Amino acid sequence: MTGARIVVLTGAGVSAESGVPTFRGPDGLWEGHRVEDVATPEAYARDPVLVQRFYDARRAALGRVAPNAAHHALARLDRDWPGDLLIVTQNVDDLHDRAAAGVVGDRPPRLLHMHGELRSALCGRCNARAPWSGDLVAADPCDCGGRLRPDIVWFGEMPYAMDRIEAALATCDLFVSIGTSGNVYPAAGFVDLAHRAGAATLELNLDASAGSAAFDESRRGPASVLVPAWVDALLAP
Ligand code: APR
Repeated sequence: MTGARIVVLTGAGVSAESGVPTFRGPDGLWEGHRVEDVATPEAYARDPVLVQRFYDARRAALGRVAPNAAHHALARLDRDWPGDLLIVTQNVDDLHDRAAAGVVGDRPPRLLHMHGELRSALCGRCNARAPWSGDLVAADPCDCGGRLRPDIVWFGEMPYAMDRIEAALATCDLFVSIGTSGNVYPAAGFVDLAHRAGAATLELNLDASAGSAAFDESRRGPASVLVPAWVDALLAP
């Protein structure tokens, strides 16, 4: 495997043990809200204050959580893997980024947030993005006069960096999916793109997911255990 080209996809399950709630709990609600009431452009147009407050609370909650062993293991993989690597996360928290800070050196981590980032603001008019740490609900407008919104890819919007992600999948040797239910496209289709490229595919997840059958191998357990074990084996001399 040394030098293999690897694409890793992560979802909410990788952050669950840090205390960040997953999306599809048993009650079907995301922190008490229906997803369509807070995670669509229509919801934002209908009630921008509710949506801003929802994401302001999620952003504030990041201060009370920390990366877990799975994030740290993936940061080690980023630091030490000699081949191509792309870690694509659907998560809008900053736990991968924090785990990588100070570990991968001066370069940026090999990480893409395909569904946006809580700690970023997006101008609804000019699409400028800016790092953001406080509340957005009463923020001043962008320099262009546009209203700032959470930099989150809502249902019906195009995920970020799809060209780069698809190019990496088209040439990868190994695709690993961690802690995602496989319900949301396009991420749920990455395993098929990887297969088409002739890659081996591995799923690491707590439970069987909607996509489990599509993987060559599925391992069941908590990400904080499975991910360090997988990374250790991969990096072993
Ligand atoms: N370790 C590994 N897997 C876990 C753990 C854990 N500790 N805890 C939960 N899981 C698994 C669950 O079994 C489930 O399969 O993580 C998955 C989480 O699934 P979802 O809540 O659906 O989250 P995700 O797949 O990331 O959602 C995808 O949907 O709402 C949108 O844009 C949002 O990025 C999100 C996307």
